[in-house]
Amino acid sequence: MSGAVWKIPGCGTIAAVAPSTVEGGLVQSKGSGRRSHRLWVLGSAMTLLAVACAGGSGPADREAVRNFIRPPADLDSSRLEAFRVGRALFGKRWTLEEGLGPAYDARSCLICHPRGGGGRPAEVGRSPAENASMVVRLPQGDHAYGRQLQRRFGDDQPGEGQVSLAYDQSRFIFADGEAVTLRTPRYQLTGMKHGPLGVRPTVVIAPKVAGVGLLEAVPEASLRAGADPDDRNGDGVSGRLAVTEDGRIGRFGWRAEAVSVEDQAARAFALDMGLSTPVRPGAEGDCETPACRRRLHGEMAGRIEVEPARFAELVRFTRMIEPPPPGPKGPAARRGSTLFARIGCAACHRPSFVTGAPVDGGRAGRRIWPYSDLLLHDMGQGLADGNSSEWRTAPLWGVGLRAQVQGEAFYLHDGRARSVTEAILWHGGEAEGARRAFTGLSRQDRQALLAFLATL
Ligand code: HEC
Ligand code: HEC
Repeated sequence: MSGAVWKIPGCGTIAAVAPSTVEGGLVQSKGSGRRSHRLWVLGSAMTLLAVACAGGSGPADREAVRNFIRPPADLDSSRLEAFRVGRALFGKRWTLEEGLGPAYDARSCLICHPRGGGGRPAEVGRSPAENASMVVRLPQGDHAYGRQLQRRFGDDQPGEGQVSLAYDQSRFIFADGEAVTLRTPRYQLTGMKHGPLGVRPTVVIAPKVAGVGLLEAVPEASLRAGADPDDRNGDGVSGRLAVTEDGRIGRFGWRAEAVSVEDQAARAFALDMGLSTPVRPGAEGDCETPACRRRLHGEMAGRIEVEPARFAELVRFTRMIEPPPPGPKGPAARRGSTLFARIGCAACHRPSFVTGAPVDGGRAGRRIWPYSDLLLHDMGQGLADGNSSEWRTAPLWGVGLRAQVQGEAFYLHDGRARSVTEAILWHGGEAEGARRAFTGLSRQDRQALLAFLATL
């Protein structure tokens, strides 16, 4: 490997980058008894070096994580360069001239997945751009609005309609007196260009993207082995493979509709940004009406807007994003881990898998800890929308880092939960038994469980 080699104290990782791309220096400081790294970063390669280190291997590294977009620790210089290029495409703000739209929700992947993390619920009074990371999907397809309600049009004009939320509040009180306020969202669709929707919306926030390449590398046989659609073992938890119309197994998105990272990225370009790719070549994106199609830049009509090579780079990068590093487990967290299994959380939040061969090559046989079986479960009426009450088990890796990385944390498909406790209290359906067991725990045991979740 050519280039400078840096040994970063406390990180245990040696990283190397080509000297021409290094413009920064490194200063280490010790803060309040903890090891912390202060990195003065000027060059983008240096940023990668820093985050690669933050993703390294120990407890101190966890505290340094400020971004879910982290490369694997063992990248050689050519793959590091590919990561850098892909990362730039992830943040690229596409323009109308390049094919954005005509109807779209956001100009870049990064706007909806800030720092590679998840989105936030839409709010009244915020602009469509600020509300972009909550998306109105129309799974059945509407004759006028298509498969998604795009909220922007052309050069930042209002799109097909807007979404905002109001909440009904209720209280849950544990036997020991601890009270939790739960909020049930009510959606308001306003400024609907073609009149009321003809189909029911599914409103979701963006999930984080870290680790998806490894989830993709989980062999289908492992997913099949976990499925128990008829609940043969009688534990009240079934779990069903998300099978697409053409017989493939879905695993990405809140309902596991996308079969691969490439599929998910092509959907994002088509539905969220109105850009065509080799996988979804329609330049009009999700336009259903003639008026919308007329807004297409004429020269774009027959062209693939995100060229095959660019698209491949973006997909390759997305696959490379490392899962969040787990935190150290003290006595409370270790007890919480036992409780997690005992009260039935692990029946869906399956702790680990061993990967098969990754799509882009690389090492197979890596044990990963996503805490999800990647299956669909009936979660009860409380979490149902008009289309279904089934959701894919949300991977819990990184759940304890969300506030640290993003400065705020919203849980569940629509971000209604502001804490992990709220998220658990919304569990119903197949998870009703686990929810009840959770509410029956002593305060000390609940805290142990939460301490464990905070390390994921
Ligand atoms: C307008 C907001 C928005 C934009 C722009 C966007 N996404 Fe997403 N992303 C979402 C939402 C919402 C979901 C959940 C999808 C679902 O459940 O249908 C999602 C899901 C994903 C997932 C699946 C994660 C998982 O755990 O299953 C990946 C990977 C992803 N997006 C990558 C991308 C990439 C790459 C781009 C840019 C090409 C992008 N996204 C652009 C909102 C967005
Ligand atoms: C029957 C399967 C099932 C069981 C059992 C279950 N969960 Fe879940 N969990 C899910 C599904 C599915 C979701 C996503 C639901 C949604 O977004 O609406 C989820 C979401 C979550 C989330 C929010 C994650 C996020 O990123 O938003 C947390 C936290 C969580 N579960 C923790 C637990 C804990 C702790 C237990 C045990 C008390 C548990 N779950 C039991 C299926 C299950």
